[in-house]
Amino acid sequence: MNSIAIYPGSFDPPTNGHIDLVLRSSRLFEKVVVAILRNTTKKCLLSVEERVQLLKECTKDIPNVEVDAFDGLLVDYARVRGAKHIVRGIRALTDFEYEFQIALLNRRLASDIETIFFMPKEEHVYLSSKLVREVALLGGNLDNFVPKPVSLYLDKKIKDFLRFYDTEG
Ligand code: PNS
Repeated sequence: MNSIAIYPGSFDPPTNGHIDLVLRSSRLFEKVVVAILRNTTKKCLLSVEERVQLLKECTKDIPNVEVDAFDGLLVDYARVRGAKHIVRGIRALTDFEYEFQIALLNRRLASDIETIFFMPKEEHVYLSSKLVREVALLGGNLDNFVPKPVSLYLDKKIKDFLRFYDTEG
């Protein structure tokens, strides 16, 4: 497909499943913009800047991928970027209702922008940022779940936090 696609999300943190999806979409589109939502009401483990840096590091070998952050409506951002496609992943039936709702809502807002769904590699189907955050905060090994730069970064961040907590307490 000869065009630009936006792959939006929270990416808190980026997982192996996210990178698999970036790779799959990069084979189909001329350019893929991985776009991190800024104005989220969710409490995040990583700042937007940290997520941008990590995603850049994890996708540095895929030449047609760009990493950015956005505010406001996704379809407005897609228009600004000249994108005609939104990319999302569906892991299991549990994702379907939420994704179906977002995709139809976005189509109502912008009928010229199409959402395309990708299925991740089977081994990533159970992965989610939420579970990775939980494992990270409880000191579990992240090597099978996130790319190396992310596991190193999270490991250090959590150790620094615990050290600070220790000295303050
Ligand atoms: O990784 P997430 O948190 O499931 O991603 C959700 C995201 C960023 C795709 C969605 O919340 C979004 O597009 N937000 C931007 C605001 C918007 O356009 N809302 C209307 C469609 S949900």
